[in-house]
Amino acid sequence: MGRRILVLHGPNLNLLGQREASIYGSTSLEEINRLIKEEADKLGLEVTTFQSNYEGRLVEAIQDARGKYDLIIINPAAYTHTSIALRDAILAVDIPVIEVHISNIYKREAFRQKSYIAGVAVGQICGFGINSYLLAIRAAAKIIQGEKGV
Ligand code: DQA
Repeated sequence: MGRRILVLHGPNLNLLGQREASIYGSTSLEEINRLIKEEADKLGLEVTTFQSNYEGRLVEAIQDARGKYDLIIINPAAYTHTSIALRDAILAVDIPVIEVHISNIYKREAFRQKSYIAGVAVGQICGFGINSYLLAIRAAAKIIQGEKGV
C-alpha cells in the first residue's frame, strides 16, 4: 500500500475559527491543514487537502481518488447525518476511509448522533477538537503499515 492520503473537509468547515468557536475552536482551516501536513510529514505520508460546501463535489473527489490515493480521511460535517450519496461513493471506491469530527457528535443533538458514513469507514475519530485530524493521520500511518487489515 502507498502513502498518499486525501483529507476531505465538508460544508462550513471553511469557516473554522470563526464559526461556533465554543464547539469547533479558534483554529482556522488553513492552520489545521498546515498541522495535518506537519504530522503527515513526520510519518512519511503525502497528504492533499480539499474542502467543499457542495455534496456533489465531495462525491467527485471520492470518485477521483481511485488510483491516486491510498486512504481518505473525511470530515463530512453536516453531510455525515444526511448523505447516502457520500456513503455510496465510499462504497464505490476501494479505498479505506477514516471519519473525523472535531466535536463529539454523540454528546450533541439527536440528529447528529446518526452517521451514514461510520458503517462504511474503517473507524471514526470524534470529540478531540482539531486533534481528531492528527489522530486520524496517525491511524492512517498504522493502516498503511498493515497494522489493521482493511
Ligand atoms: C462536525 C459535526 C457535524 O455535526 C457538524 O455538522 C459539522 C462539524 C464536527 O467536526 O464536529 O459541521 O462534523
